[in-house]
Formats: sequence, structure tokens, C-alpha cells
Amino acid sequence: MPMTRTAADSDGATRRRRRGRLLVWWHVAAAAAVVVVGSVAIQHALPAGRAWAPASFDLAAAKADYRRPPPLTVANPALVELGRVLFWDPRLSATGQTSCVSCHQPHLGWASTDARSRSDSGLPMPRKAQPLIGIGYAADLPGGWDGRLLSLRAHVRASLTVGAMSTGPIGKPVPLPAIEARMRAIPEYLPLFAAALPGTPPGLEAIAQAINAYARTFEPGVAPFDRWIKGDEDAISASAKRGFVLFNTKGNCAVCHRDWRFTDDNFHDIGLPGDDRGRGQLLHDVAAMQFAFKTPTLRSVALRAPYMHDGSLDSLYDVVRFYDSGGINRPSRVGGASPLHLSEQERLDLVAFLRTLTGEREGESAPRPAGRT
Ligand code: HEC
Ligand code: HEC
Repeated sequence: MPMTRTAADSDGATRRRRRGRLLVWWHVAAAAAVVVVGSVAIQHALPAGRAWAPASFDLAAAKADYRRPPPLTVANPALVELGRVLFWDPRLSATGQTSCVSCHQPHLGWASTDARSRSDSGLPMPRKAQPLIGIGYAADLPGGWDGRLLSLRAHVRASLTVGAMSTGPIGKPVPLPAIEARMRAIPEYLPLFAAALPGTPPGLEAIAQAINAYARTFEPGVAPFDRWIKGDEDAISASAKRGFVLFNTKGNCAVCHRDWRFTDDNFHDIGLPGDDRGRGQLLHDVAAMQFAFKTPTLRSVALRAPYMHDGSLDSLYDVVRFYDSGGINRPSRVGGASPLHLSEQERLDLVAFLRTLTGEREGESAPRPAGRT
């Protein structure tokens, strides 16, 4: 393990408190379908019927639930450094033109503003690139909009061999050994590999380990919201503060977008139109997983319009309007399609709140490419 999760775990008490309160909210739970995929993927269905917040809302307790944990610790800085150079290097892709950063851009919360990025094959990807901001905290959970890959490391490996970085989709994949040989032929990489993983040959495994270690350092930048949580009342507007309350009560958003990263790392059908069955493509028999997609983190969300797995909503206001309308009513839809009945001011308040989640300095600039000065 290149990093420990100890720091995040120290926040366990907060999370337990919050979970307790969410359970109270969910007292109407009719059923919770639990499905285990592999050894790590636990999915649950939210209860039927929208659960509303209790009449008395404890602002101080809610704020305490959103306190950030200290950043994850780095066990092997040389491995992270190697991952940094690789993440930005297009020579890892089949054609030599696509790098991870082509679709996961640091200043956009490691996401993209293209509804469909073109993979190395030149063909558009079926879905929008996911944000990788804060991914270190979910590195051992299923990833992808549909949870197809069981860990961050598996995702890196798949991106290189059959996914976005390969020409796989057009049926002329460049064999992996050719890419490995190409990387080994860059002399400047050899000391980086040697420092990061002494004794391990520079190949796919080492590359996957290094990018995995690097991606775990994508800590969300400190946002105005964080300063407010820490006690600076002037950090966010009155409208955003009302939005925070709505987010946790009438809007019901925090049921899925919970804790400081604003995600449960789980899969839900929120009622978006479209034929893509998301996690249902893998779990045909689980009713709640049809049209279900991974809850995205809302950290730096303002930077990466258009929204959703298909980029179908152009602005945060459109997203809020969508939730307000309730979406498509179908059996998998969480809680049925019950509109929220928000006033125009409430919609604007929610948007104002979402805008406070952008870190003041997000991302980082390109490292010097190995062997290219
Ligand atoms: C051409 C665009 C493109 C490139 C290049 C690309 N990705 Fe992605 N990435 C995507 C898309 C699209 C998704 C969503 C896939 C899906 O579920 O349909 C994604 C999803 C992910 C996820 C899952 C995140 C989550 O929250 O579950 C990870 C991790 C990831 N990419 C890492 C990488 C890494 C590392 C590289 C470089 C080796 C890379 N990606 C290269 C487009 C790209
Ligand atoms: C039942 C769980 C659930 C609830 C409740 C919920 N969301 Fe979501 N949210 C999701 C999922 C899942 C997605 C991704 C859906 C997709 O792409 O198909 C999403 C996507 C989003 C996005 C787009 C993020 C991006 O990067 O594209 C925003 C913004 C958002 N939600 C805000 C909210 C707000 C505001 C509320 C409350 C009004 C809310 N959500 C309630 C699960 C939920």
C-alpha cells in the first residue's frame, strides 16, 4: 500500500454520528437490497419514499459532519513522483497522443468539460470523464460510473490496456509489451522507476502502482465552504448558508452527497432520461441498480459543467431544476419521482451553496516530462 488511510479513519467518530442521524431519516426504509460483488462492492438501495429531515435542524451538528480530515499520508514519495510524470505522459497511450490528463484536468477538479472525451482511438467515450478529485479516499471501492472496476489501481490498468488510452475500441490495440518497451527505452524514466520501486522492472504493474499512488494525492483544495465550517462566518454568503440547510433538509441531497467529499461512493438511479442502464448492465437482476450511476463528489463541481454521466445538464441551476422536478419515475428511481417543490429563491440558494465547494487553488501544473526538456 503506498499510503495509509489512518488519517481519514480518525474522522470515524464524525461519520458514525452522521450515519446515526441518516438512519433516523431513513426510518421509513421499506427494504435495503444488499449485493456483494467481488469482495468489496457493497450496494444498497435507498428506501422507497423520500425521507425528509426532522423539523428541528441542528446546524452546528450538521456543520461538524463536514469537517475535513487531515490529508492522506504519502508512504512512498518517489512512487508519487513517478506517477506524476506518467499521468501527464502521452507516450503511455497507443498512438502516443493521449495522457490521463487529456481527460482528467487538474484545474477542473481532475475532470473535463467535454460531455464525451475522445479516447486514444479517436472515438468519443460513451460517458463523461469522472472527476478524480479526492479519489484517494475511495481508491479501494468500485470505480467508474457503473462500478465496473473494483479499485483505482484496476482502473489505471484498464485505462492503459483496453480503455481510454488504448486504441482498443477500433479493434487495432497496440500490444501492451510494445508500450512497455517504449517506456523502457526512455532513459530518463529508469532512475525514476528505480527510486520508486527498487527491483521491480518498469512494466504495467509498476506504472499502475505509480499512477495509483499519485492519484491518491488529489486532495480537494481548501474551499470557502471549509473556511465557513472552521468558523469564518464571512467565508460564504447568506444565500449559500441557506443552501447548505436546504441541501441537508428539504433538498435531501446529503443522503447521497454526504460527508466532506459530498459522496457516498455508491450507485443510484436519480431518474435521468436515457437508455444507459449504468450499474444495471452488470447487475441485471438487481432492480435498484438499473440506471444507477456512481454518486460524483461535489468538490469543485462548479468547474466542470456540463453535468452527469452523459453531460446532459448544462449548469448547476439546471441540475437543481432537474432534482426539483423529480426526474423519471421508474422502479429503480430512488424514492419515486417526487418533486421537491423548491421556490426560485431556494433553487438559487442551493446553487450558491454548490459554488462554495471549489478549492481556492485547485490542481497543479505539468511536471517536466521525462526525457523531454
Ligand atoms: C479519453 C478520456 C480519458 C482518458 C485519457 C482517461 N480517462 Fe479516466 N475516465 C474517463 C471516463 C469517460 C471515465 C468514466 C468511465 C465510465 O465509467 O464509463 C473515467 C473514469 C476514471 C476513473 C474512475 C473514477 C471514479 O470515481 O470511479 C478513474 C480512477 C480514472 N478514470 C483514471 C484514469 C487514469 C489513471 C488515466 C490514465 C492512465 C485515465 N483515467 C485516462 C476518461 C478518460
Ligand atoms: C439518491 C442519491 C442522490 C440524491 C438524493 C442527490 N444526488 Fe446528486 N447525484 C447522484 C448521482 C448518482 C449522480 C450522478 C448521476 C448520473 O450521472 O447519472 C448525481 C449527480 C449530481 C450532480 C452532478 C455532478 C457532476 O459532476 O456531474 C450534482 C451537481 C448533484 N448531483 C447535486 C445534487 C443536489 C443539489 C441534490 C439535492 C437537490 C442531489 N444531488 C441529490 C446522487 C444523488
